[in-house]
Amino acid sequence: MTRKHSETEKCPVAKYCGGCQLQGFSYEKQLEIKQKRIEELLERFHKVEPIIGMKDPYHYRNKIQVTYGYDDHHRVVCGNYVPGTHQIIEIDECMICDEKANQIIQTVKELIIKYRISVFDEKAMKGCIRHVMIRCSNRNEYMVILVTGSPAIRNGEQLTKELLRRHPEITTVVQNINSRHTSMILGDKNRTLYGRGYITDTLYGLKFRISPASFYQVNKRQTEILYAEAVKAAQFKGNEVLIDAYCGTGTIGLYASKSVKKVLGVELNRSAVKDALINRKMNGIDNVEFVCEDAGKYMEYLAKQKIPVDTVIMDPPRTGSDKKFMSSVFALKPEKIVYVSCNPVTLKDDLNYLTKNYKVVKIQPVDMFPFTEHVESVVLITRA
Ligand SMILES: C[S@@+](CC[C@H](N)C(=O)[O-])C[C@H]1O[C@@H](n2cnc3c(N)ncnc32)[C@H](O)[C@@H]1O
Repeated sequence: MTRKHSETEKCPVAKYCGGCQLQGFSYEKQLEIKQKRIEELLERFHKVEPIIGMKDPYHYRNKIQVTYGYDDHHRVVCGNYVPGTHQIIEIDECMICDEKANQIIQTVKELIIKYRISVFDEKAMKGCIRHVMIRCSNRNEYMVILVTGSPAIRNGEQLTKELLRRHPEITTVVQNINSRHTSMILGDKNRTLYGRGYITDTLYGLKFRISPASFYQVNKRQTEILYAEAVKAAQFKGNEVLIDAYCGTGTIGLYASKSVKKVLGVELNRSAVKDALINRKMNGIDNVEFVCEDAGKYMEYLAKQKIPVDTVIMDPPRTGSDKKFMSSVFALKPEKIVYVSCNPVTLKDDLNYLTKNYKVVKIQPVDMFPFTEHVESVVLITRA
């Protein structure tokens, strides 16, 4: 077991890692800061409800990733880039990441050194291990993703074998090949070295498959609260056609499916749509369709076809939505829009646009990312 941190104790690498901007503040103070930020940005649209915080704000992240490289003495190092640099700061234990995942990260590093596996040199663009990512589920399944710059991992079999012996909780090991000059972590090719190549999670009694590249909410304890707020805000009557836009692996749409007549989910990431289709089947749900497409283009198509839509739940990436999407929403005239946002700045811009024809009736912040400056919000918007 790792040691519990005190509320205001700073992580020793907080200054360099840049992941947790609110280190050193009590959790209560962090919630106050986030509430104030949301109010500053969004209160002009509507009163902001009190933020929903976590009971225990530590070790909530179900996804952890580290970058590999060499230091000036050609020693293998792994951790995060110091913001704005290409210098790696080593992290022994991350206080917001799952505790077992922290331990697996340390074991992988030990084994990479033990089995003399090369790590990636980004200047020379050669070497093997580039990043290691761990994803875990609340079913105690752990996926280890070894992101490599080269197709072969010398001594990879020994590494996998010892890793599995030391961490029986690992249910799958995947090699992801990324030889491109890019700041993206994952490349396009996956090779399963052990297990099924994915993990499964459970949310509100439904099972979800998560592949290496699919988006999945990172806070294993707050996700159900977030989705419940989104569905509660929509106040379904049972006969609605619902759009689940930017649907990822289908989590929100599949959850809402029992409360509506039909769900149309749209998502750009092919791997997430594949997972969504499997999730639908695995949970025996038959009133949900998933489409792999740009959400704006799909909405434009629905508007042209004059498909009746009652409610839109939209959960776009940090960059927010776009005019094509939102103007098609205007054309489709749904009664309600529920906007789930992880970035209040782009949310504000999009609300500026949407409130030309709609009005905001509820703003509910949810803390999905303790110790960081990030904050999620669920906004209910109805026809003006
Ligand atoms: C914040 S995630 C939400 C996913 C899902 N609703 C969930 O909670 O798991 C945003 C999703 O939008 C997808 N995305 C990004 N740009 C998109 C676009 N132009 N059209 C459709 N989906 C997009 C991403 O792949 C990602 O799965």
